[in-house]
Amino acid sequence: MPARDRKTSEIRKDFISDYDGLADQWWDPRGALAPLGWIARARADFVPAARRDGAVLLDIACGGGLFGPHAVAKGYRAVGVDLSELSLREALRHGFDEVVRADVTELPFDDASFDVVTAGQCLEHVPDPYAVVAEACRVLRPGGTLVVDTIADTRVARFASITLAENVPVPGHPPRGTHDHRLFVNRERLTRTARTHGVELRLLGLRPRMREMARYALGRLDEVRMVRTGSTAVLFLGTGTKK
Ligand SMILES: C[S@@+](CC[C@H](N)C(=O)[O-])C[C@H]1O[C@@H](n2cnc3c(N)ncnc32)[C@H](O)[C@@H]1O
Repeated sequence: MPARDRKTSEIRKDFISDYDGLADQWWDPRGALAPLGWIARARADFVPAARRDGAVLLDIACGGGLFGPHAVAKGYRAVGVDLSELSLREALRHGFDEVVRADVTELPFDDASFDVVTAGQCLEHVPDPYAVVAEACRVLRPGGTLVVDTIADTRVARFASITLAENVPVPGHPPRGTHDHRLFVNRERLTRTARTHGVELRLLGLRPRMREMARYALGRLDEVRMVRTGSTAVLFLGTGTKK
């Protein structure tokens, strides 16, 4: 199904065109978006296998569809929403059944229409991430699973995700300007928002395996595994069930 146009108001259009410009890199294991694939694999561990025929997973800000193969492997029909037209085309080539071009702060779906909603590495790119979480909870069915992962609004996250990640020229490093620390997400407000909308989130930290990072940088590995950490101060994931 072709990507549908919808509201694109007041979004940083330069940011979206960045993703259009990077669309050929979504699936390059040594490209600028490679770490998103590692995180997608880690996210999949928190998505239960589909419990009914026709179960549907919505991937908010699906980008080039890195979560598509995981959604399919778990038995879901996968729907993606994003503003980057070229990325949505990639998503359709990688397991997504349907993509919709829309602003994630105003999802064009009915209440309680999805069994699972994922939002990976998206909240830290939007001016109002809490509105996105409210929307994610709204479209989730009672008993459904929400999985979000993003970057915390801490100094250490700013150092790790911008100062280091965007400036050290190793394979897989994001281009300069990918992140704006002012958009990093407040964990307390995130959990409070989800709770208000019926989802009690459990937070945990994620980080890449350092030894594998070194081997990846040397060209000896094509993928780095993520591990869970006690600290949610940098990259963290939240998951919960809708009441
Ligand atoms: C870092 S990428 C993450 C993509 C995907 N979730 C993943 O983990 O591979 C951020 C994505 O958010 C999308 N995006 C940013 N702001 C958006 C908005 N307001 N509405 C829809 N998509 C948005 C971008 O186009 C991009 O594809």
